[in-house]
Amino acid sequence: MKVAFFDSGFGGLSVLNEALHRFNGCEFIYFADTKNVPYGVKSVEQITALSLRACEFLASLNVKAIIIACNTATSAAVAKLRANLDVPIIGMEPAVKQALKISTNCILTATNATINGTKLDNLLTTLNAHERVAKLALPGLVEFAENLEFNSQNVREYLERELNRFDLKEYGSLVLGCTHFNYFKDTMREILPKNVVFIDGIDGTLRRLSEILPAIKTGQGENKISYFCSYEKCEKDEKIATLLKRLEAMREIK
Ligand code: DGL
Repeated sequence: MKVAFFDSGFGGLSVLNEALHRFNGCEFIYFADTKNVPYGVKSVEQITALSLRACEFLASLNVKAIIIACNTATSAAVAKLRANLDVPIIGMEPAVKQALKISTNCILTATNATINGTKLDNLLTTLNAHERVAKLALPGLVEFAENLEFNSQNVREYLERELNRFDLKEYGSLVLGCTHFNYFKDTMREILPKNVVFIDGIDGTLRRLSEILPAIKTGQGENKISYFCSYEKCEKDEKIATLLKRLEAMREIK
């Protein structure tokens, strides 16, 4: 079963890593648009054009589904991608609905493009949740993650400054609305009150994948992964190995 993961950079590895725990015998393709990351500070038109090009490329590799492992690309471009491509496209939207099931108020962290996007506005309107969701753009974390900077003083100060804009005890959950933010759960955990639970969209995304491709649940044998960095095939190098190791450590943090 050949399935592609697409992200602006290496945030989407958090979705791939979880897929490696759940499924066997798959041929995964991971595409990081490393020449154009970050997407979150670009315009809707730019993000759409970049996403369409990347997904056309992935569709040409005869994948059975493309996971847009990027909330930003989903926000800006998912409708256009679905309209233009025959392959099933699974998007990722910040898991606000889930967060509001378990807490009265939540903090939604995402990129600027996701936070300012019409898709999020529509979602909050549908859920009648504008008053219950505090929005926080954390573009700095995308840069930190791409530079493999996880535990520095700069990361800590950045997160302390941004999260402390809110009266944290008023919130029961924090939505990780950008796949790059999964790398920073340890530092966030130290800053947030104990009762604040992390919510990400990874589980829902992979459940959707198994609904669309039920045979994925019964695959046997090792998974194979190929990596592409902006259309160039690349090997699992030291950077990718470091990122996957980091994600393994972050999986345990709730
Ligand atoms: N990882 C992406 C997301 O989930 C976006 C990061 C970026 O390129 O700004 O939104």
